[in-house]
Amino acid sequence: MENGDMSKPGLQVALDFTALSPALNAAALLAPHVDILEAGTILCLAEGMSAVRQLRKAHPDQTLVADLKVADAGETLAGLAFAAGTDWMTVICAAPLGTMEKSLEIARAHDGDIQIELFGSWTLDDARQWRGLGLVQAIYHRGRDVKGPGWGPKDLDTLKALSDLGFEVSVTGGVTSDDLPLFRDIAVKTFIAGRALYGAADPVAAAQSFRQAIDAVWGGR
Ligand code: 5RP
Repeated sequence: MENGDMSKPGLQVALDFTALSPALNAAALLAPHVDILEAGTILCLAEGMSAVRQLRKAHPDQTLVADLKVADAGETLAGLAFAAGTDWMTVICAAPLGTMEKSLEIARAHDGDIQIELFGSWTLDDARQWRGLGLVQAIYHRGRDVKGPGWGPKDLDTLKALSDLGFEVSVTGGVTSDDLPLFRDIAVKTFIAGRALYGAADPVAAAQSFRQAIDAVWGGR
């Protein structure tokens, strides 16, 4: 796809704090400068669904993600997350299809959505089965504990293959604004950044740098 055919990617902040108060402070600072707020896996494990509830309360109109990376008990965990006010919830790619199906059922009952978190081993055949369940969102993730080179042609080829299957793909894992031009030929839905935003000396300026990089590559669409 030519990048002229693409809409402009969004920006999401992953709030990966180990306590609620700094997460709420970072959200208050960054919410006007990002499209989506994420209760990060770390925050959800540290504070439970009260993190989702408090973020929803403070930001009633902003898209909110609960990054639970659910692997089992989809119905119960999605029930907790959507009752707490999330719009979207993540399910890990290693989860059984039944977990994805049940999670999606609960998400839809709340007018929400499920994002498949792509981490570790999975195949395009798996991805076709996820599409068969009706899943449309996938998050391509380089884990923070993964050693080795940064983003490369293999990542870009995989992202293109996912797009060709009809997935809306978001990209995350140590992403900085300097990385964004690498993705110029990919229809990225959202760039998800944590430490590069809330961990910056000036988080608002960091968000603005992401926006400028997005505008520079994808234009003002
Ligand atoms: C960790 C995550 C993070 O939220 C995601 O990787 C973004 O964080 P960072 O930009 O700090 O790497 O899902 O499992």
